[in-house]
Amino acid sequence: MTDKKAGIVSEIVIDGERLAGELRELAGFTHVEASAEGTAVTRVVFTADDLAARAWLRGLAEAEGFAVRVDAVGNTFFRWEGAEAGLAAVATGSHIDAIPHAGMYDGTVGVLGGLEAMRALKRAGVRPRRSIELVLLTSEEPTRFGIGCLGSRLLAGTLDAERADSLPDLVEDNGGTLAEVRKGAGFSGGLDGVRMEAGHYAGWVELHIEQGPLLEREGVPIGVVTSIAAPAGYRFTIEGLGGHAGALLMPDRRDALCGAAEVILAVERNTLAANRASGTSDTVATVGTCAVHPGAVNSVPSRVVLQLDIRDTDPERREGVMRAVRADVARIEAERGLQIREEMVNADEPTASSAEIVGAIEEACAARGVASKRMVSRAYHDSLFMAGVCPIAMIFIPCRGGVSHRPDEFASQEAIVEGTRILAMTLARLASA
Ligand code: GLV
Ligand code: MN
Ligand code: MN
Repeated sequence: MTDKKAGIVSEIVIDGERLAGELRELAGFTHVEASAEGTAVTRVVFTADDLAARAWLRGLAEAEGFAVRVDAVGNTFFRWEGAEAGLAAVATGSHIDAIPHAGMYDGTVGVLGGLEAMRALKRAGVRPRRSIELVLLTSEEPTRFGIGCLGSRLLAGTLDAERADSLPDLVEDNGGTLAEVRKGAGFSGGLDGVRMEAGHYAGWVELHIEQGPLLEREGVPIGVVTSIAAPAGYRFTIEGLGGHAGALLMPDRRDALCGAAEVILAVERNTLAANRASGTSDTVATVGTCAVHPGAVNSVPSRVVLQLDIRDTDPERREGVMRAVRADVARIEAERGLQIREEMVNADEPTASSAEIVGAIEEACAARGVASKRMVSRAYHDSLFMAGVCPIAMIFIPCRGGVSHRPDEFASQEAIVEGTRILAMTLARLASA
């Protein structure tokens, strides 16, 4: 069963039925009703649904005898002690928070797949040399606090603890700050203590749905992520002049929403221009939220807040688009008599996977006779920041039509089982080194 020299366990049995059942059960912790389009899930961090899902997951892990540690931001570590417990552990994991009207596989496959991979190794009689940890990372999604990968940024020290605690709650009206919300959810203590030293783990592998179409299109069951594109987030606050929708005459208006519309179109225009210039589709930009004040049909908008998400495999090119957007913003301000304030939320660098872990995943695929394909992740993941703690890589599995962040997101049980098996084999390999 175990090739001692390579440290590869090739006959791991994944309990696909149980894993599929757990994924369905986790999808039940949601703030939205089932949708005709598929299984709609909304599970925003630190809401009652998120906390209930965390407690349920903890029960599953404790039933396996894994030790539990929770840090001040709610990152949760489930540890299977290895034979040489003093060595740096190998870790896997992902997130269970879900954006509004999401699907049921984003992040959850990496968490429940990670748990099943550890259970399967136990069943196969493996006693890892290094400990193996499953990590549930807090708020990979930016929905509530405006910045993605909160937990992994804090682990890596990429986000200052004080700044993190002062992040405003964007979901609840008068919702306070992260400091207040996390304490209310039962996660107290200083965020300074969350940070891990570089080298805390020997390696990190995250299993995730591809969230793109390539694996399905090419009929390849496993994607091996070699790099993760660089995300950035900005907030634009557009201030104009409000007033009565009937009485404020058109020549006198300084409508903030009309200015916002121009800003959104400028983002699209400059991003398309960058793609034309590079001959690629590697630059993507989205204005995904637009908060209008006062938000009444008969009131001219006086203030609008836009959140922009912009990503590129090349951060220089991404910055070039931002410079072009800023030039347009200055013009829109002048032409419309508006004040537009820009805040940078995050501007991250891309991350490269570890050649060694990529090799271990590919060896596992070869041992199974499963085809794999090296690929870039255009979505971001906690792995981007875990790279500040230890060498990383990711395993992708196909999802139907490449669809994600939608209720009709779907990955087949067969694909999930294969990804989980490759994860288990990779963990066994890394934990034996
Ligand atoms: C993660 O959810 C992302 O937006 O890439
Ligand atoms: Mn997501
Ligand atoms: Mn995800």
